[in-house]
Amino acid sequence: MAKQFDVVVIGAGPGGYIAAIRAAQLGMSVACIDAWSTADGKPAPGGACTNVGCIPSKALLQSSEYYEQVNEHFEDHGIDVKDVKLKLNKLLGRKDSVVKENNEGILYLLKKNKVTFFHGMGSFVAHVDGGWSIKVAGKKDEDLVSKHVIIATGSSPRQLPGLPFDEEQVLSNDGALRIPSVPKKLGVIGAGVIGLELGSVWRRLGSEVTVLEAMPDFLAAVDQQVAKEAQKQLAKQGLDIQTGVKIGEIKATSKSVTVPYTDAKGEAQTLTFDKLIVSIGRVPNVEGLGVDTVGLKRDERGFVVVDDECKTNLPNVWAVGDVVRGPMLAHKAEEEGVAVAERIAGQHGHVNFDTIPFVIYTSPEISWVGKNEQQLKTEGRAYKAGSFPFMANGRARALGDTTGFVKILADAKTDEVLGVHIIGPQASELIAEAVTIMEFRGAAEDIARICHAHPTLSESLKEAALAVDKRSLNF
Ligand code: FAD
Ligand code: NAI
Repeated sequence: MAKQFDVVVIGAGPGGYIAAIRAAQLGMSVACIDAWSTADGKPAPGGACTNVGCIPSKALLQSSEYYEQVNEHFEDHGIDVKDVKLKLNKLLGRKDSVVKENNEGILYLLKKNKVTFFHGMGSFVAHVDGGWSIKVAGKKDEDLVSKHVIIATGSSPRQLPGLPFDEEQVLSNDGALRIPSVPKKLGVIGAGVIGLELGSVWRRLGSEVTVLEAMPDFLAAVDQQVAKEAQKQLAKQGLDIQTGVKIGEIKATSKSVTVPYTDAKGEAQTLTFDKLIVSIGRVPNVEGLGVDTVGLKRDERGFVVVDDECKTNLPNVWAVGDVVRGPMLAHKAEEEGVAVAERIAGQHGHVNFDTIPFVIYTSPEISWVGKNEQQLKTEGRAYKAGSFPFMANGRARALGDTTGFVKILADAKTDEVLGVHIIGPQASELIAEAVTIMEFRGAAEDIARICHAHPTLSESLKEAALAVDKRSLNF
């Protein structure tokens, strides 16, 4: 006898488990199915984000940043530390514990909200009386019937043609988070978010890192003034970033990986690495979901096609997160999950795509929300810009980290904030104020008139807002 639910969510990443919790809060009977397992076969909800993405990468970024601080910067503070040793096993073990705590936290949250969790692969069987018949293939198979289905199956790393990930020499984000000893020479294909974050981790721990990027411009989607500063700072730290390359046929043995490529000048080059991270984007997860059985529409790249409300072409079937269009970000997946649960409950869930913040957790951190200068120029929109360097911020000086700046772009006539771009210390946290202002369609003058605590890095936002009106006080 099939178990009946109002909502079945397939996938317990940030899109899925948050959708399940919100639907349960709204009084619906909810099940959530997830296939991810720990090494010993236990459920590991949280998706790519928790298991091989946001959480473990930030744990490694933090540990490696401490290591670099001790080695390179403590001396500046008058702290003399001798015999610094890296215990990579412990560092990786700590990261695994952080992941485990998050897995357990999500299981607890699902239980607390009375969401029934099934560990296994979920797939569509058919449209039946009472909704959709869904099969769970796990240790124990289950048959479910649900009025609504939310697909939140996420994404997987894209491989280079003919170069499958073996997670020993050729690493996806998964293998790149658990290299057992620091590689002497590490290659990275793709200077996107993963390449820069994980390249930074291993460089800080001692690898010689080369990043090979196909596009001629570094971080083409980022405000170019920020991208230029980032490239300068990352190069200064020792990341060798080469843009405009064309990768040839890569050969991997059990000991090394050889990468032939044509550089930006058109010259043939070859580099040999101990390990290679391939981070060239991600592909949507639809395998095993039974999409063809029920005729779920996908686009030419395999993403599930949805409308503005995350509705698919099938009645009462919704899709959220990495498996649909839009930025592949955990917080975007969560927002869509909440909005869909609310729509199912008859409410007016809404996601504002114009105010989704982006963060790259390198050092310096990079964050932004809204439009950048190149976009505004292309659109022909009249704007004013105001910047403030962290060099002129007292807190940044006290921290000993004065790299970067805050830049605010505002409409030339109305002063509405159109975009905020930050490179520097705590950029990931500072962007929240900009998101709030933009969500309320605030003006640069609003930020300038808000009282900011002194001495804080956030005063740089206020100063950049004052600079929009050419009246900085501290620069
Ligand atoms: P996922 O998190 O991919 O979850 C999908 C889940 O569904 C998985 O558990 C999967 O096993 C399961 N599943 C798939 N098919 C089935 C099926 N048929 N049956 C049952 N279960 C199934 N984003 C940020 O916002 N900030 C960051 O700092 C950040 N860092 C990242 C670092 C790395 C290295 C990577 C790889 C990604 C990072 N991301 C980050 C992106 C973020 O992880 C994704 O955007 C987010 O996880 C997408 O959430 P989701 O719920 O759509 O899918
Ligand atoms: P990405 O899209 O950020 O970057 C991929 C890069 O690889 C691009 O610069 C692209 O031009 C390049 N590339 C593609 N094919 C290539 C080739 N054949 N040769 C050389 N370069 C090539 O993708 P990435 O880094 O794999 O990350 C995937 C997603 O995960 C991102 O879109 C991001 O949304 C998410 N993520 C988010 C993080 C965050 O929010 N801090 C951290 C890590 C990942």
